[in-house]
Amino acid sequence: MKTVRLSIIGFGAVGQGVARAILSKKEMLTGQGIDLCVVGISDSKGSEINVRGIDLKSALERKKQKGTVATGNESALDIIGNVEHEIVVEATPTNIKNGEPGFSNMSAAFNSGKHVVTSNKGPLALCFSQLKEAAEDNGVFFRYEATVGGAVPIFNLIHESLAGNRVIGIEGILNGTTNYILTRMAEERLPYDLVLKEAQELGIAETDPTYDVEGVDSACKLVIIANSVFGEAASYRDVDVTGITKITPEALELASRNNYVVKLICEAGNGTLTVAPRLVPKKHPLAVGGTMNVASILTDLAGKITISGKGAGSIETASSILSDIMYIVRNS
Ligand SMILES: NC(=O)c1ccc[n+]([C@@H]2O[C@H](COP(=O)([O-])OP(=O)(O)OC[C@H]3O[C@@H](n4cnc5c(N)ncnc54)[C@H](OP(=O)(O)O)[C@@H]3O)[C@@H](O)[C@H]2O)c1
Repeated sequence: MKTVRLSIIGFGAVGQGVARAILSKKEMLTGQGIDLCVVGISDSKGSEINVRGIDLKSALERKKQKGTVATGNESALDIIGNVEHEIVVEATPTNIKNGEPGFSNMSAAFNSGKHVVTSNKGPLALCFSQLKEAAEDNGVFFRYEATVGGAVPIFNLIHESLAGNRVIGIEGILNGTTNYILTRMAEERLPYDLVLKEAQELGIAETDPTYDVEGVDSACKLVIIANSVFGEAASYRDVDVTGITKITPEALELASRNNYVVKLICEAGNGTLTVAPRLVPKKHPLAVGGTMNVASILTDLAGKITISGKGAGSIETASSILSDIMYIVRNS
């Protein structure tokens, strides 16, 4: 049995999803000779540390009852620097101003020889090459499938299954909130403000929806794609961004009468990065509805490959994190 020790830094929707996924897959993993042992968990109030392995059920229960997992005052950096383990799962909030606390957590992990698996797009949208170099310099893995497309395995598909292909371009829908709003506006012929309110009530849109509806979240994901897939040292400033706030039900109605839907499309290729509302034929593979995400990858050998799935959600995002963990376990 190969025991692999992990920490979970950030114990919100994603961090808890990872704990649940590890619990529910215990038997399957044991069958493959893998024992995933969580030795540290942090949230904003403190941490739980147990070098023999944390009881994940109790940790989840404590978080639910008390609002924190903490049994001590140690910080995330204390766990990363001082507790022996192999993989740091970084799932703290996305911050696109300075990337913190994720950037410091990931840097500390690399500098102490630990692999990083993350869902936190802030540090990658700001400092992708710096983080990649830090991982390479320390001979560890840096995996970030969950940062783009939630459960949709875009990077694994491109880097593993499509290895040998040259990627010519990628287009897709990478933000479920805006896709939900546009879908509801078109289907119900409702104005933007009303649908946004509904999305907020359902927990699909945040109280401050600016990052989603202005296209900032999509642009960050496109920057990560540009860096990871095209090797471009792109940053947020390189993306031409238009959001969805000015789209009217009348425009959607007109599109519909001509058999089109309007979607917030991200495009990377030919050295340009664009996020903008586009007309998409109703039967086109990119015309997915609701909160779904989709990516179409144009390659030189395989042609066009399109994948779609859930772009967010606690357990869906944990799926991508678990697959990155398994990659590291199998390749290290
Ligand atoms: N939710 C999704 O479906 C989804 C999908 C893809 C990617 N992501 C990304 O994944 C990350 C986590 O998302 P989430 O939805 O799980 O967010 P969340 O529910 O807000 O959870 C964030 C967690 O980080 C903790 N935290 C904040 N500052 C910290 C610090 N300095 N040290 C240690 N822990 C700290 C929070 O502590 P408290 O619990 O004490 O507040 C909370 O447990 C974000 O970067 C997000 O963009 C999320």
